[in-house]
Amino acid sequence: MDRASDYGSEGWGFNSLRARHHHMGHPAAIQDLKARLAGARAVAVLTGAGISADSGVPTFRGADGLWRTYRAEDLATPEAFARDPRLVWEWYNWRRELIATKSPNAAHYALVDLERRVERFWLITQNVDGLHPAGGAQKLSEIHGNIWKVRCTQCGHVGTNRAVPIPIPPHCPTCNGLLRPHIVWFGESLDPADLERSLAAVRSCEVLLIVGTSGIVYPAASFASLAKEAGACVAEVNLDPTPNTQSVDIAIQGRAKDIVPELL
Ligand code: APR
Repeated sequence: MDRASDYGSEGWGFNSLRARHHHMGHPAAIQDLKARLAGARAVAVLTGAGISADSGVPTFRGADGLWRTYRAEDLATPEAFARDPRLVWEWYNWRRELIATKSPNAAHYALVDLERRVERFWLITQNVDGLHPAGGAQKLSEIHGNIWKVRCTQCGHVGTNRAVPIPIPPHCPTCNGLLRPHIVWFGESLDPADLERSLAAVRSCEVLLIVGTSGIVYPAASFASLAKEAGACVAEVNLDPTPNTQSVDIAIQGRAKDIVPELL
């Protein structure tokens, strides 16, 4: 029995082939991933702050990361908002002002192309910056919310408010209750519909493409292993290594704006 046949199906050979792929050079990894995306009928994509870094939006844990300067527990928790809604809104006004001048980059647009090409496509983003929808993304779950959306703490009304700055404290147009950012804060659960839709995409995709996330915040951080368990090829495009890098099938280190467009 010669070795070649080992590479046929799901046998032992296939896994070692996949393992070797993982460590191949950049161009080969890009070609491999490009071919898998071109041949896939079901693709799911998971993005994080890294995809917007090339648009000038600071990440959370990178060198200029927000959490290096600000304490998440002082600003992005329901307790912090209850304690001092003015402080939290001042911080979100600062982020709104920063994001308002930013535009989608080549990586955002490339994913819109992918959305149009693939039969079954879903984009799951952890980003609240709104750059994916601004770039034309439609098959999308913003699982951590959107910085341009507000929610009433009294009647639950959810609306869009793009005022920069938003007058503090902002009040609900329906019941005059206090508005909060429509964002999923630490300690809060995702919207059940968003989670269900995202899990369905991750569990039924042939390729899961992960772009620009440190992969440590759950439940998004569980998607790579869920997709793998479901038999998908899992690929990661990221500037720095992450906890996922060693376990994904294809890992490409680089900037999203340079790599993602090359995958199409
Ligand atoms: N291209 C690709 N990857 C990049 C780039 C770039 N230009 N710049 C940075 N990265 C990578 C970093 O190496 C890092 O691994 O993007 C990742 C960003 O990680 P985080 O800052 O931790 O952001 P993210 O993973 O999206 O955070 C998840 O945590 O703070 C909460 O709710 C917030 O949605 C956020 C969640």
